[in-house]
Amino acid sequence: MSNAIGDTDTDTETGTGAQTQTTTSGESEEQIREDWTEYRFDGPPKLTVEDLDVYYGDDHALKDVSMEIPENSVTALIGPSGCGKSTFLRCLNRMNDRIKSARVEGSVELDGMEVYDPNANLVELRKRVGMVFQAPNPFPKSIRENISYGPRKHGDINKGLLARLFGRDDTEAELELVERSLKQAALWDEVNDRLEDNALGLSGGQQQRLCIARCLAVDPEVILMDEPASALDPIATSKIEDLVEELAKDYTVVIVTHNMQQAARISDQTAVFLTGGELAEYDDTDKIFESPESQRVEDYITGKFG
Ligand SMILES: Nc1ncnc2c1ncn2[C@@H]1O[C@H](COP(=O)(O)OP(=O)(O)OP(=O)(O)O)[C@@H](O)[C@H]1O
Ligand SMILES: [Mg+2]
Repeated sequence: MSNAIGDTDTDTETGTGAQTQTTTSGESEEQIREDWTEYRFDGPPKLTVEDLDVYYGDDHALKDVSMEIPENSVTALIGPSGCGKSTFLRCLNRMNDRIKSARVEGSVELDGMEVYDPNANLVELRKRVGMVFQAPNPFPKSIRENISYGPRKHGDINKGLLARLFGRDDTEAELELVERSLKQAALWDEVNDRLEDNALGLSGGQQQRLCIARCLAVDPEVILMDEPASALDPIATSKIEDLVEELAKDYTVVIVTHNMQQAARISDQTAVFLTGGELAEYDDTDKIFESPESQRVEDYITGKFG
């Protein structure tokens, strides 16, 4: 580490030459340098975010964020409460469109295709870029129906009276999909004998894995997770963490977490947002946690503020 905890407030050790005066909240006022957020990696980016600004009414929640997210890996988003992590995450599949006061400027590309194209198909986008929220939100339906709802909506499986009348009842395909998705989400062993039970009867940790299974059932490419384990006990949390690492072999995972150890354990690269909605630093997770360039990032990681 360039500076140990409890070092002076000057940034001479970081060699940035930036002015760092400490504010009353304990956050220094250094200038963010562009090269701190230019993360280089092999291969094409899965998501490319350029000059992204988000406003809620007059509130400028996210400021000029540019970031490239590599495929089949885990990208952690960390930073103090209110710094814009959820806002950023929601921009990646246009979930902010649902918030009336939100205005998004800038560009997000998925495999080089503009997500904010006015002609973009939002149903298709959210199939490719799925989302798992902080609080598990299963539908008040059976475990099986929670999984098959999405694929049925997208027409991948046909069931019900109309489908049967037209000879397209895909009961077998449905059960295969339910089993595959629940296995992928490491939940199958716990629920395979009660697929018709109401999903709300599952524990919180099981409900969250069900939501992950539901997200996987439509074959996404990117999975956005907003603090998916924050409401769970340590055992359920570690199951989700193992799962996230496993998923990154086939999917691009972007995960918001307040838990530094979790970010350090499961992510390949980490983006640190700071108060005011700025991206302060983005790099390999080891680099961020062992020798960050930014004094404020170092202070945040070592618990001096936030
Ligand atoms: N729907 C909304 N309407 C108005 N303002 C919002 C809305 N959602 C977020 N904001 C504001 O935007 C800023 C960023 O919020 P956001 O929820 O993205 O932060 P966060 O980093 O996810 O915080 P936390 O760690 O507490 O979840 C905050 O100032 C917040 O008050
Ligand atoms: Mg949030």
